[in-house]
Parts: sequence; C-alpha cells; structure tokens
Amino acid sequence: MRNGAAGGRRLSVVRIEHVSKRYVLGGQEVHALKDITLDIEDGVFLAIAGPSGSGKSTLLNLIGCIDTPSSGKIFLSGQDVSDKTPDQLASLRARSIGFIFQTFNLLPVLTAAENVEYPLLQLLHMDAEERRERVHYFLKIVGLAEKMRHRPNELSGGQRQRVAIARALAIEPAIVLADEPTANLDRKTGDAIIELMKDINRRLKTTFIFSTHDQRVMSAADRQVRIEDGSLRMLGVRTGEEWKWVAPPGRRSGAKRETVQ
Ligand SMILES: Nc1ncnc2c1ncn2[C@@H]1O[C@H](COP(=O)(O)OP(=O)(O)OP(=O)(O)O)[C@@H](O)[C@H]1O
Ligand SMILES: [Mg+2]
Repeated sequence: MRNGAAGGRRLSVVRIEHVSKRYVLGGQEVHALKDITLDIEDGVFLAIAGPSGSGKSTLLNLIGCIDTPSSGKIFLSGQDVSDKTPDQLASLRARSIGFIFQTFNLLPVLTAAENVEYPLLQLLHMDAEERRERVHYFLKIVGLAEKMRHRPNELSGGQRQRVAIARALAIEPAIVLADEPTANLDRKTGDAIIELMKDINRRLKTTFIFSTHDQRVMSAADRQVRIEDGSLRMLGVRTGEEWKWVAPPGRRSGAKRETVQ
C-alpha cells in the first residue's frame, strides 16, 4: 500500500483511483464506496477492516472484477480494468484472481480434488497431468492430501475452508481475495486458517486481501485498510510488533503508532 509516508517501493498489484460505488435498490440509492484511492503492493497480507455495511465486500468485489465501479478506475498489475468487456473480465478473473468465501462455496457433488481442479479447467493450455499435479500440490500445502476423495459434507468446516484455499491458489493467482474467511469457523479453526494463509503468503509471495471485523484477524495482517461508511479512514502498516497509522491521501490527521496487542 502506498501513501504519503510509506513510499511505493514495491509494484502495485492493485491500484484504485477515486472509486465510488452506488447501488440503487427499490428507488433508494446507497453510496457503498465513496472516492476510494488506494495502492496495494505486491505480496502484502492485507486486512480490510470495518463495521458491517461499511463497504468491505463491495471493495473486494470491485477488486475481483465481480462488479464494476460507478466511477473511478481500477488497475490490476498495471492493467486498467475499467474498459474491459464482461468476457475479458471473466478471463482476467480466471487467470489471476483466487476467491475464498465466508461460506466456502464448494460444489457439493465434487470431491475435494475435483473442487480444486474446477477452476483449472478454464485454463485451456493445461493438460490433465499438469492439473492433477497442481491439485495434489495445493491440497498438500493446505494439509489435505489424505482427504482428496472426500466430498464437502464429509469434511469439517475448517477442512472445507482449506479446500477453498487450495482451489483459490490452484490457478497460481496474482491476488487471493477472501471475504470474511473465518466468520463461519470457531476461533481456533479461524486462527489456523489465517496462519495457513499467512504462511502461503510468505512462502509463495501471493498477495492476500481479506475482509474481517474480527480484531484478532486484523492484527495478523501486515497492512490494514480501515473503512467506515464507504470511506477510507486509516491505512496501517506493520513493522515488527508496531502498527503505524496514516490518514489516506486527502484526509487530514496525524500519523500515530500503536503496538500489536
Ligand atoms: N447488490 C447490492 N444492492 C444494493 N445495495 C447493496 C448491494 N450490495 C451492498 N449494498 C449496500 O452497500 C453497503 C455496503 O455493503 P457491503 O456488503 O460492502 O458491506 P460490508 O462491509 O461487507 O458488510 P458486512 O460486514 O456486513 O459483510 C451496504 O449499505 C449494503 O446494504
Ligand atoms: Mg461483507
């Protein structure tokens, strides 16, 4: 994340420029995101934090090209996605973005291995042997090589989320987006899932962007974006045990430091 104080040393994997999102529902307009400008550096483990309804899922959906901004521009690895057709966006998503959902979203009739293989079927250059190797490799990374033939209903919640993580990673995406990945898990399992994501982030250098309103999950991140009522409030950069908070560009407020609890 680049901002006034923390200069952009690394490449931005995501750049969000003056993005707003409005929804109209039943004649009423909701301003879900208001003029968001943000750079996300390659390789970060970033938490998007904020109360319910603040715009976290909306922001993730825009980054993931599931939805489009009402105004403003989004760049993924330097590529402007604003002027792409739905087909081009679908292809970009299939090649470069992995998704992890709060409710796991596995296909119930497929085994763990088949669920992980599923997004690979869209990569037409990949043959069956390479797919099989990828599936095995990523199920092993999440510690589920032994459960590859199990269907989702034969797995625990934590194991299902591990399959979902392997599925997100299988395409070797530039970015993994996770919308409240621990919300349906007990505390211990949730902590293990965050640890696993963090470990993968360090080892494979995959950028993780996840939303949460859980304080413990936030503190596991190395970057934090705090949003409230659709606006960016604070950007946090962790150095060791210390968080340095700065106001986003255009907002007045002094930098402050805080030690991780
Ligand atoms: N498809 C939609 N149509 C209309 N309004 C929407 C839509 N999606 C989101 N909103 C509204 O936009 C605002 C932001 O919603 P969003 O889902 O991004 O919040 P959130 O921070 O993810 O909340 P939560 O923590 O509860 O998941 C809310 O007021 C919500 O009602
Ligand atoms: Mg949400």
